[in-house]
Amino acid sequence: MTQVESKPTTNDTPFVPIEKIVALCKRRGFVYPNSEIYGGVSGIYDFGPLGVELRNNIRRYWWWSMVQLHDNIVGIEGAIITHPRVWEASGHVENFVDRLVDCKNCKRRFRIDHLPEENVIQNKCPECGGELMEPRTFNLLMETYLGVVEGERMQTYLRGEACQNIYLDFDNVVKSSRVQIPFGICQIGKAFRNEVTPGNFLFRQREFEQWDLQFFVHPSEMLQWFDYWKEKRFEWYMGLINHKDRLHFREHGPDELAHYAKQAFDIEYKTILGWQEWEGIHWRQDWDLSRHSEYSGQDLSYTDQNTKERYIPWIVETSGGVDRTFLNLLLDAYEEEPDPTGKEPRTVLRLHPALAPVKVAVLPLQKNKEELVTTARNIHKKLQRLMVSQYDDVANIGRRYRRQDEIGTPYCVTIDFQTLEDRTVTVRERDHMTQVRVNIDELPAYLLERVTWQ
Ligand code: GAP
Repeated sequence: MTQVESKPTTNDTPFVPIEKIVALCKRRGFVYPNSEIYGGVSGIYDFGPLGVELRNNIRRYWWWSMVQLHDNIVGIEGAIITHPRVWEASGHVENFVDRLVDCKNCKRRFRIDHLPEENVIQNKCPECGGELMEPRTFNLLMETYLGVVEGERMQTYLRGEACQNIYLDFDNVVKSSRVQIPFGICQIGKAFRNEVTPGNFLFRQREFEQWDLQFFVHPSEMLQWFDYWKEKRFEWYMGLINHKDRLHFREHGPDELAHYAKQAFDIEYKTILGWQEWEGIHWRQDWDLSRHSEYSGQDLSYTDQNTKERYIPWIVETSGGVDRTFLNLLLDAYEEEPDPTGKEPRTVLRLHPALAPVKVAVLPLQKNKEELVTTARNIHKKLQRLMVSQYDDVANIGRRYRRQDEIGTPYCVTIDFQTLEDRTVTVRERDHMTQVRVNIDELPAYLLERVTWQ
């Protein structure tokens, strides 16, 4: 897919406040607070008409790049609920915990790993300076129950990370498809965590969606594939953002690494929240398949068809968040720029055209001229079969352009009096506001070339 044009930023380029994105999302139907009429639920959101389009485009683009374009990668879709032993084997029952402290004075609650070091040493609240209570440990797994008869119900969990299904289905995939190592299994799916400090809108939620690649390799090729996927995923994100200087790698320090990991990197993006993880590239070695072999009693080793060598494959994981991508792309794309005509500032979402929720808006210049309206409606009907198209005849043309800019629509097509004479329409491009005339018959191909990934 073509890359988003770089939008040079300097250290002075302001970061977009999260509140602006929250307001835009609510106003234009991208994201709503869940159960709002009951006062809402912290850390859980619903996606509105434009949000669901953007989300689907983000997911589809990941799937296309990761599964469709690779002969040695296949996809699965596992269930949210699994056998409870899965979470013992994965280490989540024992280790998936946050250590928290409460302030005796202001009653605020903090994750110890988010506190500045001096506050931990001095046992002092970062907000009010009050004394902190003894730390307490909370498990993040969300419990649920299977069965209807009280006393016979089985306690289990909503999955705390989506990737576990991939290990559970590893042997089934090997036996049912023709994959051979090195190969990958991809999945996009919901995960649930009882985050004790959810916040910053979609950034840290209790119900969210992850995308994972688990790439299975021979141990001798681990380093080569780890480096390969690290670079590949970085390039992928780079292609989607305007502010190219706001993306970097952060290597995990020795104290952050899981005991089986030789190295781990986060792809981080800088927003008003500072540098924050967007996706993790993890060296999982043989930890997952070995643990599930041990806990289930099933042999999850792999036999090389050529050499007959039998071994537990090692795994490179690339694990990112659909919701974090959604939020970061909005923060990256949002811009308010002065109006060249001196009126209100223009709000524009410079989203990659292939990800934009609406691809084209079809606008008759005037709504009281029947011929303009009929022609515009016909064009809209044709385009609608190929891409998300919106017909709009309410308000003057300038306001209609603004409405589309604000939701990131890359092209507006205006039907005017010249259209009736020569069958050409004006196509206005969102970022530079340039206009060209295109013949109606060539319009679908003109737009498709610009709004699809290929
Ligand atoms: N299987 C590895 C794993 O789950 P993780 O770093 O905990 O690793 C992977 O999660 C990605 O999922 C993160 O990089 C982030 O994009 C997303 N993510 C994690 N917790 C999240 C939360 N509470 N809300 C939204 N996204 C989250």
